[in-house]
Amino acid sequence: MATTDTDARTTPPPGPTGAEPAHVIVVGCEKGGSGKSTTAMHLTVALLRLGYTVGTLDLDARQWTLTRYLSNRATTVQREGRALPMPRHFFLAPSDKPMRDEARAEDRQRFQAIIERLRGTVDYVVIDCAGTDSFLAREAHSYADTLITPMNDSFIDLDVVAHVDGRTGQLIKPSIYAEMVWDQRKVRAQRDGGSIDWIVMRNRLSNLEANNKREMGQVLSKLSNRIGFRLAPGFSERVIFRELFLQGLTMLDIFEDNPGPGSARPRMSHVAARQEVRGLINVLRLPQRTPR
Ligand SMILES: Nc1ncnc2c1ncn2[C@@H]1O[C@H](COP(=O)(O)OP(=O)(O)OP(=O)(O)O)[C@@H](O)[C@H]1O
Ligand SMILES: [Mg+2]
Repeated sequence: MATTDTDARTTPPPGPTGAEPAHVIVVGCEKGGSGKSTTAMHLTVALLRLGYTVGTLDLDARQWTLTRYLSNRATTVQREGRALPMPRHFFLAPSDKPMRDEARAEDRQRFQAIIERLRGTVDYVVIDCAGTDSFLAREAHSYADTLITPMNDSFIDLDVVAHVDGRTGQLIKPSIYAEMVWDQRKVRAQRDGGSIDWIVMRNRLSNLEANNKREMGQVLSKLSNRIGFRLAPGFSERVIFRELFLQGLTMLDIFEDNPGPGSARPRMSHVAARQEVRGLINVLRLPQRTPR
């Protein structure tokens, strides 16, 4: 089966509801391990905890990280009896049809069916892409109202957005990924006149390398004007972003009253991490939705 809906029994039928279509947030970056799934999960839970309905779509068929994260969350709900908010989750694997055109047609049809259904029934959609180029990832980017690209805070990873002169920090040329985003902006504009708000987010910021961090900030801020993205301050390197995966939790969940047995208790670092997630939401400047 290519897709699943974890909340099928309570999902209203698709169609006009009178409400605005959901705002689509795509988390993408053609580099593995940059923090896409971590960001997608934290963003989803942050929006749920603000009282919104959220649809999630996992396009990473090699790993299904977001799907496993949410499945761990569902297990925690059952085991501890906690009322954790859940998104309406789908996952979509690429078609296995041998002919490229047929496979793409099937991918597009399945993707559009999910996105149209979610857009009519939730407030926000969060799509987690794999760390490689694919037809499905490009299709998803063309539907983004907001595109978030997390990148590890290192000059090694700067080539996700651009190739720069090592001595001057000046732009040599945009990366293949930046060109792909540019192409999908055009596809999007032609389809419905809409635009993509692209946000590059620095991830795993170190508290130690102050010089490196400052130089990286300067280079990225120059590039943002040339390439057409906004910069988000991002997340620091913190164990908390890794340690709650098996429970399917984020630090936004552990501030609740009456956590179950064995649940993590908030610490100072959790407060700071929560602040970083809130900071990201603020920078996104998402359009207000009246919760459905
Ligand atoms: N700010 C952070 N601090 C500490 N660990 C982090 C942070 N962000 C992500 N990680 C860890 O880095 C690893 C990669 O993160 P994640 O799976 O979110 O990346 P990804 O971009 O989705 O990877 P892939 O391209 O393989 O899908 C995970 O072990 C995650 O827990
Ligand atoms: Mg991932």
